[in-house]
Amino acid sequence: MRPGTAEAVERAADLLLAGKLVAFPTETVYGLGGDATNDAAMAAIFAAKDRPRFNPLIVHVCDVAAAEAIARFDDRAQLAARLFWPGPLTLVLTRRPDSGVSLLVSAGLDALAVRVPAHPLAQQLLYCARRPIAAPSANRSGRVSPTTAQHVGADLGDGVAMILDGGPCHVGVESTVLDLTSARPALLRPGGVALEDLERVLGRVDVAAAPDRHAPRSPGQLSSHYAPALPVRLDATSARAGEALLAFGAETLPGFAEMLNLSPRGDLAEAAANLFAMLRRLDRLEFSGIAVMPIPEEGLGRAINDRLRRAAAPRDTRR
Ligand code: TXA
Ligand code: MG
Repeated sequence: MRPGTAEAVERAADLLLAGKLVAFPTETVYGLGGDATNDAAMAAIFAAKDRPRFNPLIVHVCDVAAAEAIARFDDRAQLAARLFWPGPLTLVLTRRPDSGVSLLVSAGLDALAVRVPAHPLAQQLLYCARRPIAAPSANRSGRVSPTTAQHVGADLGDGVAMILDGGPCHVGVESTVLDLTSARPALLRPGGVALEDLERVLGRVDVAAAPDRHAPRSPGQLSSHYAPALPVRLDATSARAGEALLAFGAETLPGFAEMLNLSPRGDLAEAAANLFAMLRRLDRLEFSGIAVMPIPEEGLGRAINDRLRRAAAPRDTRR
């Protein structure tokens, strides 16, 4: 684990170009990066995460020009990129035949997921490496995403050549995944950019591809995901024996063995930033489970509720 100095970033870029894996901070969550043009590095990412091969990876690039070199941009994609990049939005676009990106990245799909992250360390690393970098969240498959370098160390430890430490992630939930390969834009995963903000500029977004309706178009839509070890109970209005409470807002509930508040002032951005770290902190065997108070289904609340529903989903479908 290394603080994100200029030297550490240069070293990290060298490691990436040599085919090694580097964990780095983005504004959403920490990513496990590898050179997206290197098949062996891509295989190493799937192995380190124990991730199913059919679940494709997001390619990170430093700017729109670098994104246009690997995927086709129509007017909608250009508009979305101009307004939301760098930032927590991933666009699913048609791959350019000459992209140079490993086929393992997109798990055989013709579409490529691309994002320009805003975190200064991620930006520096991408400029230094001058390569598209594939990076899933830096957790073992099925676990809660890491929002600090310490979370990455605890989850992946030896599996990575370097962990660049940039402190806690500001957004705290993963990027919004928007599919622009069909006539109507489709939301594949709610995330750090609110659906309302996308619809304001792109018009209606199809949300029917909501999780678990059918075989997932975006395999991150599989039900149980982001799961702590303890059972998670949503929309709690009272305590059950031995439970810990994940609260939201000024009015909390009595009778819990422990309580953490996502945002005492009821702010959804603050709640998103705290979500994964607080789930990790409450995930202790001395409790019988984690109860979560209701969160409004608007703005970043959609992403928060999506992750909480997965955390609470039956575990037999877990990946
Ligand atoms: O915020 C984020 O997006 C973080 C940071 C590190 O950038 N990354 C992240 O990656 O969350 P990951 O691998 O945990 O989630 C990627 C999501 C999955 O739901 C995956 O199925 C979807 O993006 N995805 C990737 N490529 C796709 C494609 N070609 N078509 C449809 N969905 C795709
Ligand atoms: Mg993930």
